[in-house]
Amino acid sequence: MQTHQYEVIIVGGGGAGLMAALNASRGAKTAVLSKLYPSRSHTGAAQGGIGAALGNLEEDHPEWHTYDTVKGSDYLGDQDAIEFMCNEAVEAVYDLEHFGLPFSRTPDGRIAQRPFGGHTNNVTGKPVRRSCYSADRTGHMILQTLYQQCIKNNITFYDEFQVFDVLVANGAVAGVVAVDLATGELHVFQAKAVVFATGGFGRVWEITSNAYAYTGDGVAICLRRGIPAEDMEMFQFHPTGILKLGILITEAVRGEGGVLINGEGERFMERYAPHVKDLASRDVISRAIYMEIRDGRGINGKNYLYLDARPETINKYAEADGRTRPDGTPYRVTGEEILSKIPDIADFCRTYLSVDPIKDPMPVQPTAHYAMGGIPTDVYGRVLVDDKNTILPGLYAAGECACVSVHGANRLGTNSLVDILTFGKHAGLNAAEYVKGTDFQNLPEDAAGFTMAQIDQMRNGDGTEKVAELAQEMKREMFNNVGIFRSEAGLKAAYKKIQELRERFTHIRVQDQGKIFNTELINAWELGNMLDLALVVTESALARTESRGAHAREDYPKRDDANWLKHTLAWLKDGQVTLGYKPVTITKYQPKERVY
Ligand code: FUM
Repeated sequence: MQTHQYEVIIVGGGGAGLMAALNASRGAKTAVLSKLYPSRSHTGAAQGGIGAALGNLEEDHPEWHTYDTVKGSDYLGDQDAIEFMCNEAVEAVYDLEHFGLPFSRTPDGRIAQRPFGGHTNNVTGKPVRRSCYSADRTGHMILQTLYQQCIKNNITFYDEFQVFDVLVANGAVAGVVAVDLATGELHVFQAKAVVFATGGFGRVWEITSNAYAYTGDGVAICLRRGIPAEDMEMFQFHPTGILKLGILITEAVRGEGGVLINGEGERFMERYAPHVKDLASRDVISRAIYMEIRDGRGINGKNYLYLDARPETINKYAEADGRTRPDGTPYRVTGEEILSKIPDIADFCRTYLSVDPIKDPMPVQPTAHYAMGGIPTDVYGRVLVDDKNTILPGLYAAGECACVSVHGANRLGTNSLVDILTFGKHAGLNAAEYVKGTDFQNLPEDAAGFTMAQIDQMRNGDGTEKVAELAQEMKREMFNNVGIFRSEAGLKAAYKKIQELRERFTHIRVQDQGKIFNTELINAWELGNMLDLALVVTESALARTESRGAHAREDYPKRDDANWLKHTLAWLKDGQVTLGYKPVTITKYQPKERVY
């Protein structure tokens, strides 16, 4: 077993991790541990843009961005944190520009901006162009740009290192334990501060836009060490995934004028969100799609709809909506223009669907996309371990694995990238500051013991169960019963099934007993993480007897501020979930009904 010592360890090489690394490394000896080669991280899948009120094309203000985010969150977001993030968003975009990120540009050379769901002019209520983008490859560009900056700054990377455990001694962080996937060797990293930036857990569901690596490792590791998870019932379904595959078709397609069409050829969002139509927030649109399909208005009665981005369709509805360009001329597009805005989407559609999006509509269905919940933190990334917001010294989290909470019950499109940039940066800065005034904790004697025990269990089970089969059963159950709509009966059935799967998980046995790139072992461990999270999501959802944002209960269809304007905290011990709650921070905006 090898040991290493760094002041700050970052776990995860996506956008949040790289931002944290860049900022921490300026003041502290820092290393990044990533289960992937960093430029393969899931940030690379983000397409449509970064929300920031630059006002390059029309009037906009961070305050409008703040209000839209509060409203989008269905009032479960903490308003002080949301204001902090929306104010920081503008600088974050300019920082990226200065790092060299190749943004799409306006004709006069400024950063281009496009409309996105839920982002509005707060006076007129109409969509505002707030999303700063690089065609439909914004996340990819962020990842490449930040990685280059990290290399330039000589940050040390341990690529393809899977972190299994976080070590705590004397009430403070002491380090992490990881496996080098190339050799199977255990490594113990002593650290004064650890920043988790491990992303989300969409692979818990059958249809998802999330990468294979999105198995919730950071949240699961923390749960095993007695740290709660916040608002886990709030999981977002993006309205437009490629049929059956779930691969994301960016909301930017609708920002550029594309519309959703049902089996009767109707632009049905006019009925559900008469003001902003196809640019309502995601929870509203995903539910609308679900209801259209349930009422038999899917395409040919099937479980999908069309996203239509053909120029003739865009122009027809742009005319009906009276949409104009920033100079006041009517908004009309050509196929060439559309293709220049969504080149990757066009490629995906051609490759996976044999559909050319400027000639044919795209078959889509909602896809599990984003965890609003996660490890509780404040705006500096410091992990909070209870309902009194007690800090665990030295432990940080940022990005999708964290819950600040700025997304509340429903995240607005583009705010995930604002989140990783803002809170990645502040977690890194704060961690570097923290380590200046603190000593290394002595490592526990058997530092790698818990990791070894987990590995031994997977290697030595009786082998009557198969990881792939258990995973498929979990994903289907979660998609059917803990998806866009939920009910007590469905959630109870899911709870029972997940507990059954957790018991069966103790009977798996990894066939590959080798050490080098033992992906079978890692997949098994990831399934254990997902089963833990599935249980926590289901119990949190069962307890919340209201509908709010992404959490839509058929048996409790109304939002209930009197009883449920509060964050869920969930602890997992010996296979049982304990729930607690803490208040939502309300500053300027009293909860009211959301109208889109
Ligand atoms: O639709 C999209 O481009 C996704 C963006 C996001 O999740 O923020």
